[in-house]
Amino acid sequence: MVLEGLKSATGAQNLLSWGDNKLSVHPKYMISDEERQSLKQVSMLSYVPVINLQELMDDGSSRPQAIEKLRKACKEHGYFEVINHGVSEAIMEDMMKVADEFFQLPVEDKLHLFSTDYRKRTLLSTSFNATKEATMHWRDYLRHPCNPLEEHINSWPTNPSSYRDVAGKYATQLKELTLKLLEAISESLGLEKDYIAKALGKQNQTMQINYYPPCPNPDLTLALGAHTDPNCLTIVQHDEVSGLQIMKDGSWFDVPAIHGAFFVNIADQLQVISNGEYKSLVHRAVTNSRKKRISIPTFYGPSYDAEIKPADSLVAANVHGPLYVPFTFEQFLSHFYSQKLVTTTLEHFEVPQSN
Ligand code: OGA
Ligand code: NI
Repeated sequence: MVLEGLKSATGAQNLLSWGDNKLSVHPKYMISDEERQSLKQVSMLSYVPVINLQELMDDGSSRPQAIEKLRKACKEHGYFEVINHGVSEAIMEDMMKVADEFFQLPVEDKLHLFSTDYRKRTLLSTSFNATKEATMHWRDYLRHPCNPLEEHINSWPTNPSSYRDVAGKYATQLKELTLKLLEAISESLGLEKDYIAKALGKQNQTMQINYYPPCPNPDLTLALGAHTDPNCLTIVQHDEVSGLQIMKDGSWFDVPAIHGAFFVNIADQLQVISNGEYKSLVHRAVTNSRKKRISIPTFYGPSYDAEIKPADSLVAANVHGPLYVPFTFEQFLSHFYSQKLVTTTLEHFEVPQSN
């Protein structure tokens, strides 16, 4: 069959959303004993930092307090939920709906988007880095760049027919939200308001739809293994099915799904720019046997040619000097994708410490 031939020639037969995985877990998805053990030792968070964007945008007397709350969330937790974020609820719902519709499309309508080459910036793929990993993640994903919109929208899916319209509006609103957060985060570090936005050069905004089908045996698999995100700041819309977990003080915690809020986490480039003041969040996702789950992260970060390094004023404030060597985002990504999904990419860019 022509379709079968195409599927195996591209590696696309591995896509979970094509459905041969409903009854049993193939050994290539089975995680290590150590990881299986860690699935049994997960707690509920007793506190989730919530940031009210309205308070941050207020120029009046409550702003310093709001910035301090943001600083604590970034410094002590590495993530927060943002509410009153200004993104319309209708757009959030439409985006979730069209994301689901995309993954319900028949194989032949998506095959042209499939790739395992990360340099292809608009792609449909599965797991994380199929050519580098021994254990696959229980995930399919669609990813595409969004900034500037006019330059990239023609590479996005045309099916469902409303995809470009809905995702275009969503990306525009997410960019506005992210830039406001980056201003406030700059301020919380004692930097000029536009410091981080400028440090990211022409800025890279990439949208991803993660699709996690139900898994027949959630004790044996991970939806996405432990990692930190390679960009600067990640803003995630979740559906009502939970599955995201974060690591805090060496233990795993379930993150509750909060309707209408975005989950925001610190990613690698912010750890570098802040010279280690804010840490990139270690997180993972787990599977369940009952319901499919969709999450839509927006990865905001540097353009490929931007040179990333710790902010001078934060280096001056640190007795160790700069913790990271300067690098371009392209160099960082090529290292990130040369391996399986890990939590340690940043170590490759550390300045060796003498003591
Ligand atoms: C990611 C990610 C978590 C989730 O795509 O980088 O961490 O909940 N996703 O889907
Ligand atoms: Ni992530």
